[in-house]
Amino acid sequence: MKLSGKVAIITGGARGIGRAIATRFAEEGAKVVIADIMADEAAETARAIGHDAIAVAFDARSQDSINHLVATAVSRFGGIDILVNNAAVLEAGALLDHTPEMFDRVFGVNVKGLFFTLQAVARRMIEQGRGGKIINMASQAGRRGEPGAPIYSASKAAVISLTQSTGLVLIKHRINVNGIAPGPVDTDMNRAFAIRHAGAIGESVESVLAQIASEVPAGRIGVPEDYCAPAVLLASADGDFVVAQTWNVDGGNWMS
Ligand SMILES: NC(=O)c1ccc[n+]([C@@H]2O[C@H](COP(=O)([O-])OP(=O)(O)OC[C@H]3O[C@@H](n4cnc5c(N)ncnc54)[C@H](O)[C@@H]3O)[C@@H](O)[C@H]2O)c1
Repeated sequence: MKLSGKVAIITGGARGIGRAIATRFAEEGAKVVIADIMADEAAETARAIGHDAIAVAFDARSQDSINHLVATAVSRFGGIDILVNNAAVLEAGALLDHTPEMFDRVFGVNVKGLFFTLQAVARRMIEQGRGGKIINMASQAGRRGEPGAPIYSASKAAVISLTQSTGLVLIKHRINVNGIAPGPVDTDMNRAFAIRHAGAIGESVESVLAQIASEVPAGRIGVPEDYCAPAVLLASADGDFVVAQTWNVDGGNWMS
């Protein structure tokens, strides 16, 4: 029970990696707030988790929605101790097909939404005066670029940068900001990418997924549960001396 009594917001927690982390946090004793644009799925996830978990309809692109999320967590549970800034969208495709609308959508959620959610939660944590933990979900794409997803990759490089800058500022308030950079993980986001890529190169989705897995030194792509223990470490007292880092949790993919 490493998170006993802590209040944790997980954005994009309705499914995928966010859902797995929210589930584990609740098992570790946290009260979790599932904040997601897919309101019905978020409510279902909160019900499945139990342990007092609640769902909040949330759009990371809206400052009103961010303010509502913080106010709801505080009024329901009395404060906020942990934020997992996990909500994101992926736009993929050929470089010449990317549009300004795709750019705005990706940067609106992955960068602007992430930053202002962090800011609103940090403001509350500073007022509370009891520190806190913030985890930003980055990506290997932010470290090395991906030819099929240039805007998404740039957004994740920005997440790594924001983690560094905000981490250096907020540690003075005993708020640790760190990131996790996954490689390919078996979620709806990754499957959508594989479907698009398979169509572009005229191969089956299964062969594209097998190819991706064969390139990972650990021999497989990730599953959402691979992210639970690293997230618990960064969200708990075990991570007190980890500051402004982004941790590659990717089966060795980026290193290779
Ligand atoms: N799956 C991968 O291969 C992979 C690889 C590297 C990094 N990541 C990162 O990990 C995190 C989780 O990814 P995932 O694979 O679980 O994705 P996913 O698509 O399965 O889940 C993302 C969640 O974010 C929510 N969301 C999207 N836009 C939102 C918005 N505007 N406001 C609030 N919620 C919104 C979605 O409804 C969904 O529940 C993301 O930050 C992603 O970029 C994933």
